[in-house]
Amino acid sequence: MTKRTILIQIDPDPQPSVFDRVVALDAGADEVFSYGGVQREQVRNLVHGAIFTRGPQDLRRTALFIGGSDVSVGEALLQEALRHMLPQFGLRVSVMLDANGANTTAAAAVRSAARHLDLAQTTALVLGGTGPVGQRVARLLARRGAEVRIGSRQPARAQAAVEAIRRKVPEARVQPAPSDLSAALAGCQLAIAAGAAGVLLLPLAARRACPTLRVVVDLNAVPPLGIEGIDVADKATERDGVIAYGAIGVGGIKMKIHKAAIARLFERNDLVLDAEEIDALGEGG
Ligand SMILES: NC(=O)c1ccc[n+]([C@@H]2O[C@H](COP(=O)([O-])OP(=O)(O)OC[C@H]3O[C@@H](n4cnc5c(N)ncnc54)[C@H](OP(=O)(O)O)[C@@H]3O)[C@@H](O)[C@H]2O)c1
Repeated sequence: MTKRTILIQIDPDPQPSVFDRVVALDAGADEVFSYGGVQREQVRNLVHGAIFTRGPQDLRRTALFIGGSDVSVGEALLQEALRHMLPQFGLRVSVMLDANGANTTAAAAVRSAARHLDLAQTTALVLGGTGPVGQRVARLLARRGAEVRIGSRQPARAQAAVEAIRRKVPEARVQPAPSDLSAALAGCQLAIAAGAAGVLLLPLAARRACPTLRVVVDLNAVPPLGIEGIDVADKATERDGVIAYGAIGVGGIKMKIHKAAIARLFERNDLVLDAEEIDALGEGG
């Protein structure tokens, strides 16, 4: 008998995310086991429960999803989960990390831009590039060959983000953006605003003053938007001569990627879906 697919939702927040649970079911998981308030030391037993209950041939029908609102906590839980798999005996299950929606959101932003630009030939400014989403956006752009500038109010944070990206992508062409916005934008074809909710980072006048700009993507859905003069629902909408994506426009793409990633988890038992792997899911995702 074919076993049911089970997604084990590991969430460090006190209440496991309803959003992640609904998406998991919509993506085709037969069952979702949700665990909230998960601490690092509890991960081992959750992993053992996953890997010791089914034979290796059925383990692709069990998978882990690590969520929660704090990306660094999620990253630590992912490492902990991987530590307790036993691949030498075929006893492991696939895992996806999408704490704070950061991986799927970043992949959706980059995919939106890639519909219109050859990223290897693109210079991109990532505003709010020091946050968990912005850093992933910058990393994925760099991995696809773009020249990336990281915008921040604090040069030291931008430098730290650049170094973190270079550790993961040694060939990355990435640097802190100049603090002056027009200098930061000069020569850019792409600007992605990944700043905090409700913070305007790219005023209309600055956007209009940059003749090379072709695509703008805003991930902030809370007014004021991160990019002035676009609409939150824009999806490849022309605005003042540039192609614009708003947070809801990107959100539709993000949902598709999220569902495709969950479905992919049940194809094999050895996947680790972090930012790059999620970005690499096919265009169908
Ligand atoms: N659609 C989705 O599903 C989805 C999922 C996740 C996130 N998001 C959105 O994506 C965006 C980025 O998320 P995140 O969690 O990475 O954001 P975040 O950590 O809250 O903020 C990102 C960066 O914004 C800058 N910032 C914060 N407050 C600011 C202020 N008052 N003025 C100017 N800059 C400020 C900070 O950079 P510096 O201190 O270095 O300047 C910070 O590192 C948010 O708008 C979030 O709502 C959407």
